[in-house]
Order: sequence, then C-alpha cells, then structure tokens
Amino acid sequence: MSELSENAKQVIAEHLPRYPSKQAVTLPALHVVQQERRYVSNKAMEEIAELLELSPAQISDTASFYGFFRTEDNPLGQKRIWVCRSLPCMLRGGEELLAALCEKYHIVPGQTTADGKLTIELAECLGACDGAPCILLEDELHLRCSLEDVERIANEPNAPNKKA
Ligand code: FES
Repeated sequence: MSELSENAKQVIAEHLPRYPSKQAVTLPALHVVQQERRYVSNKAMEEIAELLELSPAQISDTASFYGFFRTEDNPLGQKRIWVCRSLPCMLRGGEELLAALCEKYHIVPGQTTADGKLTIELAECLGACDGAPCILLEDELHLRCSLEDVERIANEPNAPNKKA
C-alpha cells in the first residue's frame, strides 16, 4: 500500500513543470507530505524518490538537513506554532509568552502535546519586530500576541488574529 495519498502524488506531479529539474521538487514534495500526514516516513521518502527519479538517500539528506521535517516517531501536532525567540520579541513579552505556553501545555519547545493537537517550536526573527512578540501558526504571522491570543489561535487556527 502506498504511503503517499493520491492527492499528494497529484500535487507533487503538478509541481514538476514549475521547476527546472525533478530534484528541485524535493522540498515542495516533502512539504506536501508533511502537511498531509504531519511527518515524513522513510517509506514516503522512498516513494518521493521514485516519483522524482532520485535515490531515497537524496530525499533523506534534504529532509534531515533542514530540521523542519518530522519523522513518524516524532510527528507534528495538528497545529504548529513557532514562537519568535529573537531579542526584540523576547524583550517585549516573548519570553513570558513562551514560558506561559510551555507551562500551560506541559511541553518544551520542539515537543507536541500529549493529545497531539499542538507543537511549539522556536523561531529566529520573523521579520516583524515592530509587532513583537510574534508567532507563526504554520506559515501565518500573528503580531503582538498575548497568551490568550495564542490559546485562541491554537483552538481556532483559521480565525483571523492579526493585529497589525
Ligand atoms: S525579533 Fe521577533 S520578529 Fe523580529
């Protein structure tokens, strides 16, 4: 049985004409799989390699280089929140926000809650220092976040929360 869904295969195939080589589709393909499954298994890497006519080692090298992709024994939660840990955010409440999040959800950065709902990660400057403290929900930037804001974001990931 295939590890990649038909949808994932189709989305990866749609990327092919947009890139100069099949190898260049490696990162987008990894993103497609992780977005869908919340991790990229060895079998998924083998199947991506087959689709892109590369070796599984090439896919694995790319996946492990970035530190962004999770393995099946350490999957992402349903929502991934990145807390900015660079100085401007830390000086404007980010440090307290991070501590409160870790205390509330009983995890440390890099971990996922026991119910699999939330992963907290540390990010370097998100390029929005004037909105400190900042977080990313997946790839969506949220500015001037309080603990209450993040709790709401964690529970309603599609709810608008930008306070730019
Ligand atoms: S320091 Fe957090 S966005 Fe720049």
